[in-house]
Amino acid sequence: MTCFIVEGGYALEGSVEIKGAKNSMLPIMAATILNSEQRDIVLENIPDIIDMHMKKKILQSLGLKVNCRANTLYIDSRELCNHSIPAPLMKEMRSSIFIMGPLLARLGKVRVSYPGGCAIGPRPIDLHLKGLEALGARIWEEKGIIVASTSGLKGAEIHLDYPSVGATENLMMAAVLARGSTVVHNAAREPEIIDLQNFLNAMGAQVRGAGTETLRIKGVDSLGSCCYRIIPDRIVAGTFLMAGAITGGRVTVSGIIPSHLDAVVAKMQEAGVIIESAGDSLSVLNGRLKAVETLRTLPYPGFPTDLQSPMMALLTRAEGKSNIVESVFEARFKHVDELNRMHARISVQGRTALVEGCAALRGAEVWATDLRAGAALVMAGLAAEGRTIVRDVRHIDRGYEKFDRELQKLGAHVTRVEETDGVCKLPVSVHI
Ligand code: UD1
Repeated sequence: MTCFIVEGGYALEGSVEIKGAKNSMLPIMAATILNSEQRDIVLENIPDIIDMHMKKKILQSLGLKVNCRANTLYIDSRELCNHSIPAPLMKEMRSSIFIMGPLLARLGKVRVSYPGGCAIGPRPIDLHLKGLEALGARIWEEKGIIVASTSGLKGAEIHLDYPSVGATENLMMAAVLARGSTVVHNAAREPEIIDLQNFLNAMGAQVRGAGTETLRIKGVDSLGSCCYRIIPDRIVAGTFLMAGAITGGRVTVSGIIPSHLDAVVAKMQEAGVIIESAGDSLSVLNGRLKAVETLRTLPYPGFPTDLQSPMMALLTRAEGKSNIVESVFEARFKHVDELNRMHARISVQGRTALVEGCAALRGAEVWATDLRAGAALVMAGLAAEGRTIVRDVRHIDRGYEKFDRELQKLGAHVTRVEETDGVCKLPVSVHI
């Protein structure tokens, strides 16, 4: 197991160039299955994170050739031959379910097990399956394996009960090659949906409406290759801004689309953080942190659930009491116990966490329970007195490219170490 050893008390200073968004890259990699042309698809601005490597393995297991060089992926789908994904790969990540839509569209059949991913509460896939059935897929279960087949998808009118990001993406990828037109009502409006629309249209699809509640997709006969640049990761950008703010430092994130962070910036400003915007960058300057009355996570354009735990870490240092309501995922408060080990004062009642601010955080041994929770614990460690050991940082590596190195460049004292027999062995050069 790998851990981070964080020595707190150093204000971060400097700037970070933000790479492509994990949550855009994953569905877009799945969508490359739809390419029936004899040329590679080229994807630029790809983050070098574990989830990218897992998705690469999934595509390779289907017969695609995938090469990665210098944050660019070259994907050749000519030899797509398999419609079944090995269970261990499916278990590794939630987004493996996105494979269903494009595989049904290209091959008319698919076999997958239930997907895994971060342990952030029950994550059903009913909306994905109902939508695919509406498009003409027959879906059943064989000993825990989901099997789907179709003799040809047909356009349909679909009303999602909830604007699920994954279901919206899966249905878009299935509908682009369906016969006739599809309308998806109550679609998710995240920037990553717009990115997927733009990518599919660059392949020759006819999708419009992304960014609104209604998607309209006109099926086409085939899709081809293209070169496409993934949008910057708004969640990684938000994490670095909050890391700067919790240490009372000055951090700039660049290469971003600032408007994607409007709700986050508004909430951080409400918490007393001074934020400046210039072109494609945002900077946090030192400010006096104060509680926010209520922070509620919501689908875009609301405050993103993926930044709930980093924002909670920040609010432990604010003056006053803050309420955080997690309305997207049922059990996304596992980091609370870990933050409390660091002398935070947070209590949870149902979907609401009450954060009593101004905690003098102290270093402790904590577990990264999921990707964003892991980042939040590192942030808390940066602001804590003494040393924090964050265990199982593989979760963090799933979504942040070289998080430790980027933080070191900003002046943080963070060291990656391998743990053997329950003991984190520090490299000889580290004196903390
Ligand atoms: C995506 C993001 C994830 C983010 C989440 C919400 C990726 C790879 N992951 O996850 O980082 O936290 O959006 O912004 O893009 N639901 C159902 N039935 C379904 C599908 C979803 O009930 O069939 C529920 C979920 O349990 C959850 C809510 O809908 O409570 C939101 O889930 P969804 O928007 O689908 O999130 P993901 O696509 O899994």
